Amino acid sequence: MADQPTAGRSKAIRRLKWAMRAFGQLTWGMGTGLLALITFVLGIAVAISSLVGVGILLIRPWLVLLRAVADLERSRLTNQGYEVISPYEQLPQRLRDCLEVVRTDQTTQRDLMWLPVHATWGLIASFFGFQAGINVLREISFPLWWHLLPADEATTLNGLIRVNDWSGAAFSVALGVVWLAVFLFLNPAIVQATAAPGLRLLTAHPDVDLTARIAQLTTTRAAALDAHAVELRRIERALHDGAQNRLVGVAMLTGAAQEALRRDSDSAEAMMEQAHAAAEQALAELRSVVRGILPPILEDRGLAGALNALASSCAVECSVDVDVPVRCPASVESTAYFAAAEALTNISKHSGAYRATLTVRRSQGSLLVVVDDDGRGGAKMDAGSGLAGISRRVAAHDGRTEIQSPVGGPTRIEVELPCGL
Ligand SMILES: Nc1ncnc2c1ncn2[C@@H]1O[C@H](COP(=O)(O)OP(=O)(O)O)[C@@H](O)[C@H]1O
Ligand SMILES: [Mg+2]
Repeated sequence: MADQPTAGRSKAIRRLKWAMRAFGQLTWGMGTGLLALITFVLGIAVAISSLVGVGILLIRPWLVLLRAVADLERSRLTNQGYEVISPYEQLPQRLRDCLEVVRTDQTTQRDLMWLPVHATWGLIASFFGFQAGINVLREISFPLWWHLLPADEATTLNGLIRVNDWSGAAFSVALGVVWLAVFLFLNPAIVQATAAPGLRLLTAHPDVDLTARIAQLTTTRAAALDAHAVELRRIERALHDGAQNRLVGVAMLTGAAQEALRRDSDSAEAMMEQAHAAAEQALAELRSVVRGILPPILEDRGLAGALNALASSCAVECSVDVDVPVRCPASVESTAYFAAAEALTNISKHSGAYRATLTVRRSQGSLLVVVDDDGRGGAKMDAGSGLAGISRRVAAHDGRTEIQSPVGGPTRIEVELPCGL
């Protein structure tokens, strides 16, 4: 028997926690609903202005916005315990391809169906649930503060009923209790009801072939493992052929010098000098191997500093413009660094350019590295090993490498690396 009040209390606490979570979800839902409404209105404006031509240029940015808003709602649903992954492929750069995405891509069409529903139903229902939470506090605490307000200004039921006396205040408390019931019992159901359209439309359509996406991820993962193995082999070769050989030389020379010391100290001294030189070389090679694994300069001076140092050692005059306010994950930074290093080396080696520019931006969860030169062009992905290696490394991050290099120039290498929000 003694357990009963305890069990009742823990049930009430559980219900309260549940209601608080629902309140958080509805506040979040109100945010995504509001964003959906703004996106919807902008979408209508873009659609109308596309009919007369100009708006057509805004279709891609609008699609980016639509995806960002849908992804925010997906995170809300994931936070509720449903697994809703973002099913997008990268948006194409060209306008015509973007129009094709709107016309044929099922995921985009489902986003377009979800948008007006969430902008209306989602927003209104979430707002109601949010108001219920606010009203509980407001109406129940009403007797504490209503008389402090100027006469005739105290109202209850969202301004609908004016309160002039204590019976009105008591009525407000009664209303507060009703709102409390809504807060405790109805809000969790409202959360589910606002989530429903997203669960139907923002998840991947059964016909959308996620196998293609999975196959792509499997390939890039295999490429990542491959790139890793190649990298290990390169490091092993560099150590084996370089530093290790030099150190073997040092060992032999010092051994021989020891022998010679007993007979002829002059030749011993010459050998010690050789050994010293070989040791210095081994050290230099070890340093260069270390630099090739993760350039220490990235650690010390960040991406901007490291890229500036790269550019200043480039044979062609190169201006650098890096605007990355927060640091990206180390693997992303080092891939961006190696991509820029390869592009700049190529410019020095192959381009015959007078000027180069290196631009780095971070936007919409991606790090974008663009290297331009005004040289003779003709860069090809599979003509050598450098660009192909970079492209594999970038693909391992699920990123994109694009080369525009018509014969006669100019050349632009673009690398985009997802780096989280
Ligand atoms: N910026 C550039 N300007 C002109 N040609 C380039 C440029 N970058 C690369 N190339 C051409 O593309 C080929 C492939 O480059 P890459 O894969 O880096 O191989 P490599 O090992 O020869 O540098 C190069 O051999 C060169 O002919
Ligand atoms: Mg190269």
